[in-house]
Amino acid sequence: MKTSVCIIGGGPSGLMLSQLLHLKGIDTVVLERQSREYVLSRIRAGVLEHGFAALMREAQCGERMDREGEIHDGFIIAHDGQQSRVDLHKYSGGSSVVVYGQTELTRDLYEARDKMKGIVIHNAEDVQPHDLKTANPFVTYRDGDEVVRIDCDYVIGADGFHGVSRKSIPRDVLKEYEKVYPFGWLGVLSRTKPVSPELIYAKHERGFALCSLRSQVLSRYYIQVPLSDTVEEWSDEKFWGELKRRLPAEVAARLITGPSIEKSIAPLRSFVAEPMRYGNLFLAGDAAHIVPPTGARGLNSAASDIYYLYHAMVAHYKNGDDSGLDNYSAKALARVWKAQRFSWWMTTMLHTFADGIGYDQKLQQTELEYLFSSEKALGSLAENYVGLPF
Ligand code: APR
Ligand code: PHB
Repeated sequence: MKTSVCIIGGGPSGLMLSQLLHLKGIDTVVLERQSREYVLSRIRAGVLEHGFAALMREAQCGERMDREGEIHDGFIIAHDGQQSRVDLHKYSGGSSVVVYGQTELTRDLYEARDKMKGIVIHNAEDVQPHDLKTANPFVTYRDGDEVVRIDCDYVIGADGFHGVSRKSIPRDVLKEYEKVYPFGWLGVLSRTKPVSPELIYAKHERGFALCSLRSQVLSRYYIQVPLSDTVEEWSDEKFWGELKRRLPAEVAARLITGPSIEKSIAPLRSFVAEPMRYGNLFLAGDAAHIVPPTGARGLNSAASDIYYLYHAMVAHYKNGDDSGLDNYSAKALARVWKAQRFSWWMTTMLHTFADGIGYDQKLQQTELEYLFSSEKALGSLAENYVGLPF
């Protein structure tokens, strides 16, 4: 097989890039290790910054998002018995976010790829990039007993944190920066009316909690738990009880509970790999960087990677201009680190740290007091939450 751009990973990053390039007449093949059903059964976060929503529209995939997604102009931070609203619209100069599940967004991207007869190969085993430092890289994968080779100009590593792409960069080239937090988030999805029309981020001495939603009939809730906890230890009843304890009494009183339809624990991690280019391999999305979910930046830091790569590839194929490809790593990393900073800041401000000393707790308190007493501080939060410009 031959293609221009071979994309490893059929998550949101890989699919979005494939769709955008196809619309510009640039040929791609997407190799995905899992089945489509598996990819579409993964429950992921649900807040899209306006820049990502714009990219969905540019990819001609925004119709259902615009119909079913909810525009959110603000969210609540509950702390010290108060509920303080962050007016995103006001403090970001008129911007907002779209609440639309990443699983639904991935479904829309698959449908768009099908409609354009884009090639997405599922259940591709043992995917391996080769000869990345040469002008003729190729990727192999196994289909049953057969090894298939795809020759290409460029390889995109959009295969998430556990993918093969980043691992194919030599150890002496790649530098990894990592911070692992000493807790995880236990998440529950339930077919219940959300407790609040806007997201509530709750800081509580028993641990952080978040009330989110997918639609007016589908709620998503999270609580901070120790890393040693397992899903089996958390019956629905125990989860709802603990969530209520961490929410303001008035919110807890109106919380509608129901059976969980998904329950999982995700560790919180910050991670960046540099550089994001090695020869003709370009890393994008979770393959190169991970954020803790507190700032809702996961998909959104992938968005700028895709945007830069898309424009760089178009400039290369249409105008023979390689400057975008040459600058990709530095440009992408500059925005990635800002999303890292913001996610770390939100995480540190809102979680309970078991080893936190009195001094740290006082600083957390002061951070919140300062935030809600300063329009400039709120402006900084808002511009980061709705997404810094690409
Ligand atoms: N070969 C082929 N595909 C692979 C391989 C491999 N060796 N390893 C992983 N994959 C696939 C995964 O099965 C997954 O479908 O690559 C895809 C990567 O998708 P994601 O993990 O969703 O990463 P990405 O597309 O960058 O999405 C950005 O935003 O909200 C965050 O973490 C969240 O997934 C989200 C991310
Ligand atoms: C979610 O809805 O899953 C969600 C929302 C906001 C976050 C993290 C997760 O910050």
